[in-house]
Amino acid sequence: MQKLCSKFCSLQNFSLLAFFFLVVGNIDILQAQPYSIILGRPTDNSITASVMFDQSAEFYLEYGIQKGDYPFKTNTVSLVKNMPEEIDLVNLMPNLRYYYRMQYRIAGTASFVASPEYNFHTQRSTGNSFTFTIEADEHLYDKKGVKNMYDVTLANQAVDNPDFMLSLGDIFGDDHEPFTITSSELDVLHRNYRPFLGKICHSIPFYVCLGNHEGEMDYYYNMNAPNNLCVWGTQWRKYYFPNPYPNGFYTGNTENEPYGIGNPENYYAWTWGDAMFVVLDVYRDQCDTSAKPGGWAWTLGRPQYNWLKSTLETSTAKFKFVFAHHVRGQGRGGLTNAKFFEWGGYDGTNGTSYNFPNKRPGWEKPIHQLFVDNGVSIFFQGHDHVFAHEVLDNIVYQTLPMAADSTYKIGMLANADAFVSDTLEGTGHLRVNVSSDCAKVDFVRAYLPADTLKGKHQNREIAFSYNVGKCSSTGILTNHKFEKIKLFPNPANDHLMIQSEAEIKITKITLQNALGQNLLSTQNSVLDIQQIPNGIYFIAIESLQGNLIRKIIIQH
Ligand SMILES: [Fe+2]
Repeated sequence: MQKLCSKFCSLQNFSLLAFFFLVVGNIDILQAQPYSIILGRPTDNSITASVMFDQSAEFYLEYGIQKGDYPFKTNTVSLVKNMPEEIDLVNLMPNLRYYYRMQYRIAGTASFVASPEYNFHTQRSTGNSFTFTIEADEHLYDKKGVKNMYDVTLANQAVDNPDFMLSLGDIFGDDHEPFTITSSELDVLHRNYRPFLGKICHSIPFYVCLGNHEGEMDYYYNMNAPNNLCVWGTQWRKYYFPNPYPNGFYTGNTENEPYGIGNPENYYAWTWGDAMFVVLDVYRDQCDTSAKPGGWAWTLGRPQYNWLKSTLETSTAKFKFVFAHHVRGQGRGGLTNAKFFEWGGYDGTNGTSYNFPNKRPGWEKPIHQLFVDNGVSIFFQGHDHVFAHEVLDNIVYQTLPMAADSTYKIGMLANADAFVSDTLEGTGHLRVNVSSDCAKVDFVRAYLPADTLKGKHQNREIAFSYNVGKCSSTGILTNHKFEKIKLFPNPANDHLMIQSEAEIKITKITLQNALGQNLLSTQNSVLDIQQIPNGIYFIAIESLQGNLIRKIIIQH
């Protein structure tokens, strides 16, 4: 792609040790380092390192398969300050952890200096266990995202030692002023993100899944091209953050776009161990080019649909994980949207009309049905800023919490009523452990140190867990502790019973309406609802083991 010039602020990279001192000890003793390394596109025999310095410099990487032993090295690369260069490590062996360090010399200095040792893993073989992590909706460009909160979530992911991490979008932005934002401003937004990822992504390859606020949409794409948010955003995103493109290991978008974009690196798939990973872009191709198209106008586009169908149908992986910013692009919820339009095929009042053949002539089946017929295990989405776990046709629809919300409840307050089950407040990331027969998903909460002082919460507490695969005696959904809380009957008439097993210590039960207003509170296991009008409500359960919200219906 066209390399664009950057001329703004410098970046800093912090050693992980110092980083943890900052986050955990809240001590401002960081030793700034003058570079960032962000890994991307790992394969069975290669990986890309994007390297950037805040001064002109030259560097090379040396690497091997044992700690402290680096028999291989790259060519020496010269770079200009604040302008990243990508270098590929090639001819690697699969299913191995590699250790590497950078040797660098700042312009005007005499000798090379060695970085700390970093590491990465090449593609896992089948039968090989591994961990990956997912975060979403960082929103550092607006008031929703708080930088030191994000630092905690990043540090927590580093502790999990994942093979790679994904973000599900609303990362760099910013489409809030779409017609006045400039290329220079987008340059700064993307570049300012590197110091965050640079803290951990020297050893954790990073994948971008695009969100609506990245602004890489049809709506902007053709508007006064090439001088628009979509073109500039794509250029700067690619410039600073290496994402996959089809190369024999990855499949994905094969189109090359004009204006210096080339391959937009926006949707792609790969296999790692016993799992297939499919990352979708739900924004670049719209049926009509309005800012927020309705129902059927949201689309993957035919090329992406065909690729998705072929990708799912030809994969023999035991687990198939699909990622997108959202089921519908805009709107809220998981299952409440999955039935509709291109995703589910239905429209009309309450989704009573199956209209897919008319709206998508020649397309074989809706996206959800593709998932069902091809054994998709979990669909991960962001956008709604709240943890929500739902199941439809044995497919988990998993919505992610924000990564940097220091209030811990932005999404819970705004969007909880769009979900049908297991909705939790909190900030953090998801950790997925994949073994040959089982995938375990944990919601790892992040807390600022000041918010753990009362002892109610701990950073890295596990708020929710479940398994998919043969690890479960009951099949798809298993052992999260909140299954041990029962609410019945539902719908309820005059009384609602709350029953929990002995290991769950409930401290408070609150009945809330759809506006989040508290109507009743009790510590008893029976809630008298005789005076509550018919409708949909939420039961907020606080326990020593964590909090939970469940939806109930009151019908007298
Ligand atoms: Fe968002």
